[in-house]
Amino acid sequence: MRRSSSSGGTPFISLLEPHPLTGWDRTLPADEQPDLDSLPRTFVDAMRVRQEVFVQEQNVPLANEFDADDPRSCHWVIYASVNKTVEPARTDPVTGKIIQPRRSETQSVPIGTIRLVPFPHPPHPLDGGVYVDGELVNSGEPVARVHSIHPAAGGERTTSQYSSNSTSPTLPNSQIVPPAPPSLIKPAFTPDRPTTYHDGVEPYLKLGRLAVIPAFRGRGIAQQLIKTAVAWARSHPEYFNPSATEQGFEQLGMEEGSRMRGGGVVPRWQGLICVHAQVEAIKVWERCGFVLDEGMGKWMEEGIPHVGMFLRVSLDKREDEFTI
Ligand SMILES: CC(C)(COP(=O)(O)OP(=O)(O)OC[C@H]1O[C@@H](n2cnc3c(N)ncnc32)[C@H](O)[C@@H]1OP(=O)(O)O)[C@@H](O)C(=O)NCCC(=O)NCCS
Repeated sequence: MRRSSSSGGTPFISLLEPHPLTGWDRTLPADEQPDLDSLPRTFVDAMRVRQEVFVQEQNVPLANEFDADDPRSCHWVIYASVNKTVEPARTDPVTGKIIQPRRSETQSVPIGTIRLVPFPHPPHPLDGGVYVDGELVNSGEPVARVHSIHPAAGGERTTSQYSSNSTSPTLPNSQIVPPAPPSLIKPAFTPDRPTTYHDGVEPYLKLGRLAVIPAFRGRGIAQQLIKTAVAWARSHPEYFNPSATEQGFEQLGMEEGSRMRGGGVVPRWQGLICVHAQVEAIKVWERCGFVLDEGMGKWMEEGIPHVGMFLRVSLDKREDEFTI
């Protein structure tokens, strides 16, 4: 974990690079995690913010908040210094006079978070689709179309492009383990459908889980988080690029015949960043240079309308401007 602080020490932003997060129980809140002390503080704080915002405020089920992207992502948490009462004032019960003043101390509290997810990703959501915990529960389309939707990106495929370790049909019933929900399965490198700003093939990073607790909204905190994550990605352009020589194509989850694999070319990030933005938050992303991808349409995630937005950053260190 790296820490950086602005001048004056507040607010400061903490970064957690990918971490296995072993022991995280997605059915429990952050403060009730059995291995709380062994988990990275930055992640626990990110989850505290995400739970307050997404679970309590937006009614996303707690168990759907943590997913397979969390261990492979970079997480940023922004903290504010807040004066907190640690011991209330004590008064004389007879005279009512204060015999010991209130004791307070300044504490750093997490107020916002964002994460940066590396490629590969599951396919772009379907226009009109309804998703719960990463799973398409209603396509808004006739079934036949859902199962053959992107001929331009490589022909027929099912809605799920995840590499699944699904149950063996030969096992007796008592040994059958239910398959993991899509949100807990690692996606594979496969072509996607082309959209307005994505050709379906180019590897992209994905920003998400942007949340600021209500008391600190409207002060540019979200903008600060987005800009921090984008600037970090720009200054670490190779960070998520896989190495086929070190890991092997199978380890990279590349499918046989995939266009990404074509000619043995390993996917390399070229500056494209995507976000699945809540419709209410479009303006926040636009302020940071993201533009709406009309071709991605609109869909529901956990009951909340979402759209796709993209930003292309220049990886040329001489250029300051971000463009799409
Ligand atoms: C969206 C969110 C992250 C913005 O955080 P923030 O720190 O207030 O954002 P900023 O201060 O950087 O930007 C604020 C701008 O967005 C607008 N805005 C902020 N919160 C908003 C909200 N809940 N709904 C609509 N607009 C909002 C403000 O009006 C402001 O624009 P203005 O300066 O023209 O008034 C925060 O409201 C939040 O956590 N919302 C709930 C979770 C969420 O929607 N996450 C986004 C997922 S894509």
